[in-house]
Amino acid sequence: MLMDRDAFFTSLWNQYIRVTPQANDIQTLLSTRGECLVNDHVAFRTFDLKGYDLATVSNILASIGYKAFDSYTFPNKMLRANAYSVPGDPRAPKIFFSELIRSELDDESRSIINEIIAPLEGKLTLADLTGSYPFAKPTASQYEKLADISEYAGWLSTMGYQANHFTVSVNSLRTLGSIEEVIELLIEQNYRLNKVGGYIKGTPKDLLIQASTIADGIHFEFSDGLASDVPSCFYEFAYRFNDSDGQLFQGFIPNNANAIFESTDRQS
Ligand code: NI
Repeated sequence: MLMDRDAFFTSLWNQYIRVTPQANDIQTLLSTRGECLVNDHVAFRTFDLKGYDLATVSNILASIGYKAFDSYTFPNKMLRANAYSVPGDPRAPKIFFSELIRSELDDESRSIINEIIAPLEGKLTLADLTGSYPFAKPTASQYEKLADISEYAGWLSTMGYQANHFTVSVNSLRTLGSIEEVIELLIEQNYRLNKVGGYIKGTPKDLLIQASTIADGIHFEFSDGLASDVPSCFYEFAYRFNDSDGQLFQGFIPNNANAIFESTDRQS
């Protein structure tokens, strides 16, 4: 095994805070209150290209003990996703991995994506997931066109492979008793939060409620020499409820995730 699970998450976090300084700041804010943070899940994005698709991802994640336990579709975002966990180790963060279904895009967006992924050969690796940009950069106008049709595709075309977000387990917090209290603290500290459908996504009946910040921005140089700030990554907060068997619900809720995806939308 080239990289074990702990090394994978350490490398993933280090890359994540390089492009998401707010996550490091929020972690520090919570740590100074005496919190010891537990990571509920991390999320990744990819295109449905052979060698880089969810089928490949399942094999990669199996090398560090992960197994898919559920799958979801997001028809209005042209996405599907798998959820992975480590059987028998509830402390291992879950992984939410989505892919863009290229056949559902219009011809123009699909041809832009096909140009961007043209250099890809071989297969995605575990190390790639901790931070790599294997694509041909889009021009600024290709990026805008792509993001107008799919903010997800716009994000992936500039950010490549890395954790899209980490997620604080609100159940594990001791000084903040609810997701409402977390939101209140973040607003007080002037963090921008995702308001799609309200600050809180989901209801206790869904067994999972979530909130997230709006992604930080990062400088990106397009292939035609133009440059601008593009959305990087964001931080999420999740509270889970017990299911009817008295077990903490471990899955994901498509409606919630649908709103959380928009944390990386361009802000006008
Ligand atoms: Ni998430």
